[in-house]
Amino acid sequence: MVETYRDIQRLAGGFQAAKIFLTANDLGLFLQIGDGSNSVDELATALDVDQRALELLLNALVALGLLVKKEDRFSNLPVVHQSLGDEEQYRGHIFRHIHHCWSAWNNLGDILKSGKNSFVAEDKALGDDDDWTDAFIRGMNDVTRELAPQVVPQLELGNVETLLDLGGGPGTYAAAVQRAWPDINEIRLFDLPDALEIGRANLEAWGLADRVAFCPGSFHDRVLPAGNDAIWLSQILHSQDEAGCRQLIENSFTALNPGGRLLVHEFLLDGTKTAPTTAAIFAVHMLVMTEGGRAYSEDEIAGWMTDAGFTDITVRRVSPDTAVVDGRKP
Ligand SMILES: C[S@@+](CC[C@H](N)C(=O)[O-])C[C@H]1O[C@@H](n2cnc3c(N)ncnc32)[C@H](O)[C@@H]1O
Repeated sequence: MVETYRDIQRLAGGFQAAKIFLTANDLGLFLQIGDGSNSVDELATALDVDQRALELLLNALVALGLLVKKEDRFSNLPVVHQSLGDEEQYRGHIFRHIHHCWSAWNNLGDILKSGKNSFVAEDKALGDDDDWTDAFIRGMNDVTRELAPQVVPQLELGNVETLLDLGGGPGTYAAAVQRAWPDINEIRLFDLPDALEIGRANLEAWGLADRVAFCPGSFHDRVLPAGNDAIWLSQILHSQDEAGCRQLIENSFTALNPGGRLLVHEFLLDGTKTAPTTAAIFAVHMLVMTEGGRAYSEDEIAGWMTDAGFTDITVRRVSPDTAVVDGRKP
């Protein structure tokens, strides 16, 4: 909660810090510095940018606590080097994606006036633009590669032989499922063709592609593969409007074996729809990125699952920001 006018100023100025960081990441500045230390001159030459402008950016990055400056040479802080300065470990795709989303956020005022989103930026990230799609799908792996191994062991998949990972994107959850639940025979990774190719490449690189069936297609058009003991629907419903959510839940019901479970993983809002903060802000993110998406509450999702015929519905918080709504097909 803001307490002083200064707090409001700080909140309003937040975009400047974000822009400085996102621009540096797009430039490849942190990768260029790596584990070394560089002068402005060296960096300007290597990155082919204006020296005066770069010096101001570098000094601001030091002020923001991302770089260290010593005797006019700049180096990455250890955490910045680990996540953004090392090619092998690089986790900056998600920030490329966030920077792409910036253009959609510029339309927030217009969307508020008209109630319509004339630029559905999500389409660019779902195959219309290669760079956007690459940043989005690899970005999902950046954020879930630590989260998935925490979440998946909590899912009680002991009796599951066949699992459908609907909108499974980069394959991060498909990998975590195999590691946590080695008795699962087959994971069907279902996604749009471009995203699926990234998922396939990841799973092959991790040596975890053998038990995965790759299913290209749109869940709006293609009948879902049948005969599943579980369906993992992670971070999908928020991009749909209510009718789209209901349709996906009904189609999942049809694609499950009797006794099978649908597990919906989301940033869930509480009953007030104002908390947690991540979910409330994410709802606006979906307003600007999609045609009809937003964040939902556990009561809304549980209600649609009940309407579709699911029973024994439970909700469990599986991480600080996310929860799973779990229901069984009788
Ligand atoms: C926010 S990501 C979630 C990825 C993953 N499930 C996770 O939790 O990290 C949304 C995923 O849904 C996929 N997707 C979006 N629309 C789709 C559609 N119509 N058919 C199939 N997949 C779709 C995207 O390609 C992307 O992989």
